[in-house]
Formats: sequence, C-alpha cells, structure tokens
Amino acid sequence: MPRSTAAEWMDDAAATQPDFEAALRDLARINRMSLARRPVLRWLDALVAATGRRHLSILDVGAGGGDLLVAVAAWGARRGVSLSLVGLDRSPWAASHAAAQGVPARWITQDLFALDPEERFDVVLCSLFAHHLTDAELVRFLRWMEARADLGWLISDLHRHKLPWGFVWLGVRALRMHPMVVHDSTISIARGFTRADWRRLLGEAGLRARIRWTFPFRWLVSRA
Ligand SMILES: C[S@@+](CC[C@H](N)C(=O)[O-])C[C@H]1O[C@@H](n2cnc3c(N)ncnc32)[C@H](O)[C@@H]1O
Repeated sequence: MPRSTAAEWMDDAAATQPDFEAALRDLARINRMSLARRPVLRWLDALVAATGRRHLSILDVGAGGGDLLVAVAAWGARRGVSLSLVGLDRSPWAASHAAAQGVPARWITQDLFALDPEERFDVVLCSLFAHHLTDAELVRFLRWMEARADLGWLISDLHRHKLPWGFVWLGVRALRMHPMVVHDSTISIARGFTRADWRRLLGEAGLRARIRWTFPFRWLVSRA
C-alpha cells in the first residue's frame, strides 16, 4: 500500500489553541508510553562517544510541545554535555505550549523551509514529524537536514504497517484521547514509512544514511 496523502487535523491552520494543545498533551503521553525518546538519546550517546564533544547545538524540527527537547536537556545534564537547544514548529500553539511547559530552548515559529539559511546546528533531530511531509517535500527535507547539520541528523518516525495501525486505533479510543489525536493517529501511520520508502527517498535526495527499525514500529534514519 502506498503512503497515504490524507490530511491530519493538526496540519490545519484553522486548528484552535485548546484543540492543538490538548493534542500535544496526548502526544506527550503516547511518547512516554511508547518510550519514543530512548532511541534518540541512545543515538546522541553514540554521537558524543564518537566525537568526544562536550557541547552540542541541537535543533528539533516539528518540535510540537517540546517534550523531546526536555528529555534531551535531562540527557545533557546526566552526561555532562552542555547544550544549546532550539525548537522549530510552524504552529504558534506549539510555541505557547512549549513556553508554558518551561521547555529550555530557543523557539522558532516558522515553516522549516523558511528558516534563515544562516541557521546551522551540530545536530538536527525530528521525531514523529517526517510523516507530515509529502514524498517531494521529504526529498527536500533530507537535503535540508544534510545542509544544516554539521555532525549529524536523525529522523525517528512511524512504520506503515497494519499491526500498529490496529493497536493505535484501539489504544487512542480506549484511553479517550482528544478527537484530533483519534483522527490523526491512524492517518499518521498510513502516512508512515517502509524501509523501501526510505531507500527510495534517500536515493532521490542523493544521500547515504543508516536505516534502522526499532520497537515499537519506528524507523530511525540517521547520518553521523
Ligand atoms: C505529530 S507533531 C510531533 C510533535 C513532536 N515532535 C512529538 O514527537 O510529539 C508534528 C508537528 O510538526 C509541525 N509541522 C508540520 N509541518 C511543519 C513544517 N512544514 N514546518 C514546521 N513544523 C511543521 C506541526 O505543527 C506539529 O506540531
């Protein structure tokens, strides 16, 4: 089955602040329950071990409520790595939510492709963001990350597969999640990826990167 092109409510510019922020709170719950941060932090561990760096500037693209950045800040404190953290999200409701949560990062409210070309980082991360892009945008995004990240970049995103689709369909209803999350969750999986998608997209972008599957039904695509 090809990637879905169905639209997510989260990407509707008319989404209201209460709905968007409620969806971000439920996403943070899903991220905690699915241990979504663990593979990202392990990848940062490997990067620091390989480079010996004690300071990193890190951009999180499609940062939502900023809970990945909170986890990265705690990781840096534990490992003795000083960090300059930046969150980027085009929704103004992501910025207000992150500010209210005290996310320790500079925040940019902008479409990623409109980011100032002077902005560069040691590391660019994105989690549960790439599936929001079309195939053509993904090829552009892969090149964009390659051009912006001095040390490396990592994408963590969903595996398009009927097992997580069914599990998530049930889970978001059983946990009485916000209607935006109920609507978007299975669409997100249908917009997700197979290994063949990533090989093709990387090939079209002219890039080589590591593609690794991780539990629960995520792809980690990285270059370091
Ligand atoms: C599913 S949320 C993921 C949030 C967070 N990364 C997480 O793991 O929970 C995707 C986020 O990407 C943002 N987004 C979508 N398209 C974008 C674009 N072109 N530029 C910047 N942000 C975008 C949305 O506003 C939304 O907050």
